[in-house]
Amino acid sequence: MTSTIRWEQDDTGIVTLVLDDPNQSANTMNQAFKASLTEVADRLEAEKENVRGVIFTSAKKTFFAGGDLHDLIQVTPETAHLVFEGGQSIKRDLRRIETLGKPVVAAINGAALGGGYEIALACHHRIAVDKSSTKIGLPEATLGLLPGGGGVARTVRLLGIADALLKVLLQGNQYNPQRALDNGLIHELAADQDESLAKARAFIDANPESAQPWDKPGYRIPGGTPANPKFAANLPAFPANLKKQTGGANYPAQRNILAAAVEGSQVDFETAQTIEGRYFTELAAGPVSKNMIQAFFFDLQAVNSGANRPKGIESKPVRKAAVLGAGMMGAGIAYSCALAGIEVVLKDVTQESADKGKAYSAKLCEKAVSRGRTTQAKADALLARITATADPQDLAGCDAVIEAVFEDPALKHKVFQEIQDVVEPDALLCSNTSTLPITQLAEGVSRPVDFIGLHFFSPVDKMPLVEIIKGERTGDEALARAFDLVRQIKKTPIVVNDSRGFFTSRVIGHFMNEGVAMVGEGIEPASVEQAAAQAGYPAKVLSLMDELTLTLPRKIRNETRKAIEAEGGSWPEHPAEGVIDRMVDEFERPGRSGGAGFYDYDENGKRAKLWPGLREHFTKPGYEIPFRDMQERMLFSESLDTVRLLEEGVLTSVADANIGSIFGIGFPGWTGGVLQYINGYEGGLPGFVARSRELAERYGDRFLPPALLVEKAEKGEKFSDA
Ligand code: NAI
Repeated sequence: MTSTIRWEQDDTGIVTLVLDDPNQSANTMNQAFKASLTEVADRLEAEKENVRGVIFTSAKKTFFAGGDLHDLIQVTPETAHLVFEGGQSIKRDLRRIETLGKPVVAAINGAALGGGYEIALACHHRIAVDKSSTKIGLPEATLGLLPGGGGVARTVRLLGIADALLKVLLQGNQYNPQRALDNGLIHELAADQDESLAKARAFIDANPESAQPWDKPGYRIPGGTPANPKFAANLPAFPANLKKQTGGANYPAQRNILAAAVEGSQVDFETAQTIEGRYFTELAAGPVSKNMIQAFFFDLQAVNSGANRPKGIESKPVRKAAVLGAGMMGAGIAYSCALAGIEVVLKDVTQESADKGKAYSAKLCEKAVSRGRTTQAKADALLARITATADPQDLAGCDAVIEAVFEDPALKHKVFQEIQDVVEPDALLCSNTSTLPITQLAEGVSRPVDFIGLHFFSPVDKMPLVEIIKGERTGDEALARAFDLVRQIKKTPIVVNDSRGFFTSRVIGHFMNEGVAMVGEGIEPASVEQAAAQAGYPAKVLSLMDELTLTLPRKIRNETRKAIEAEGGSWPEHPAEGVIDRMVDEFERPGRSGGAGFYDYDENGKRAKLWPGLREHFTKPGYEIPFRDMQERMLFSESLDTVRLLEEGVLTSVADANIGSIFGIGFPGWTGGVLQYINGYEGGLPGFVARSRELAERYGDRFLPPALLVEKAEKGEKFSDA
């Protein structure tokens, strides 16, 4: 088997182990690595007398990428024992190197995530090259896994149980080198790889008999372990913390991480590693890690790499963007563009409102500087790239326009009219409308071929997704340029065809309608909220509805209904509509901005409690439904409508649907997205179809499975782009 670790020994007895898999662009924990590590550990033991110290570094851009996800997604309960044994072998060999009695140093020259950081953790000293691509951490939890290569055992011993869980393991944080240093994950920074190697040699010279803290006599886990009564008193807080971090949802990784950390802290190091290996294997063989690897690795890669971008069109970065409307969305879009180095002209009706929009960027910059995420100089440069104005003439030279004025077609037409002859003659024309059909908006501009929907999510600086909407007359060049612009500002683009509400706004509407319908049926509102949280939704359904206001969906519903009926179609009544109408008209509770909605709000607008009137006005004595039905009504309503969107040709890619649902509208991550949820459902597609029919019988025809779903189930297929 090819060796993936190169042995380089200098004449002073320092062995540099260069991680360099000749068959891959990045180093991973594959079979070849496992065999190479055993060889290296054997040789180090055999030649120990001639070895003064060991340095791990890498010949790749990243230090080491971690487990091979192509292999991990294939693991089944039948092959799980092989994963366990492979992991045990790697841990045994790292342990042999760690306890050789010689100083071992990691010279981390690039990203060291997951398995990469686990190798570094087995070293006595960790030096990282301080550059933006160096990321350090154990992100396994974000893929439904845990670090099973000694990562739990070592971080618990390095940082203590609480810090290891909260700072490293449960959320899978990735740190830049400075923050990794501040949080005790590494020991030193270096300017480049050469300096890291020089510092590694200096450490070896100064510490000829180095050992890990946990291998030194008298070592105790920092902060104590559950064996200590004082620590045990704090232990009950952990499950609560866990619930806070996962919403109490179906995230087995967090449960297993907690168990591995606590159980492993009470036994010797080797046993702790075995315990961690068992918990890892259980996760690797289970369904949630597969869903999450599919979505967060494979689907995300497909989406970002441009599977949906028209081919053969040269990319031309945007230099100067016009943002029309400096309200909540416009201000956020201006910030994201400026952050990516684009000159921005932010225009509103008055200079004062334009300035207010720019002030939003100033606030975000101030926060980033105070938290050490950027420097004052970079923040100043970012702000200098934004020009706030009320004068359309200032838009001269802009090669892209992003419109974010009020949601009113006539106004949107007007603002484009005002500027289309001022900007570059071939400028890309985008609208951030969240609901208006792009094809109709395009009628108001002189170049509909260059007009496209660019639907951002709020808050723009935090939300990673942008939904690109192709109108009927949008050209391929505009689509390619819009795609490139989204990548330029480091966001994830999904591409859909035009339709009312596109993909995201339409599908999230089903989630909210289902929650509201349940209230209308007389189900305890607190249970409805709890069901959403436990299903894994980041926002509870009634509180989300209040945030968006109840009048907005009503307005959209009425307009859509009118449009559908004008075309001779019929509008499918939803039981939520009556509840919303009563809330707005009868009880005058239009949502948070109106001071009252499903919740009561205090004088500062802070959510106080669910409105007691709900239980009084919406009742059905003795009516109760299983908790599982409550959760699945929300999840199914979104998945089923996504299938309809595929049937209608609004959506054309499974990866886009999965990524869009998780990144844009909070569909629970453990499912792997709105279509992967169907693929991974118990019994596969036939199981999902049967359950849809059951829900339809109990709660209404809206749960009947669409023809495409039934057909795929019958053919034994899954939803996939392959
Ligand atoms: P907003 O009300 O905060 O901001 C609209 C801004 O447009 C105001 O500052 C207003 O002064 C300005 N404006 C009005 N007429 C103008 C004109 N002639 N020239 C320049 N500026 C003008 O609204 P928001 O929330 O920022 O929404 C803007 C657009 O983004 C809407 O189309 C909305 O549907 C869409 N959107 C909103 C999302 C949200 O979460 N609020 C999410 C995604 C899209």
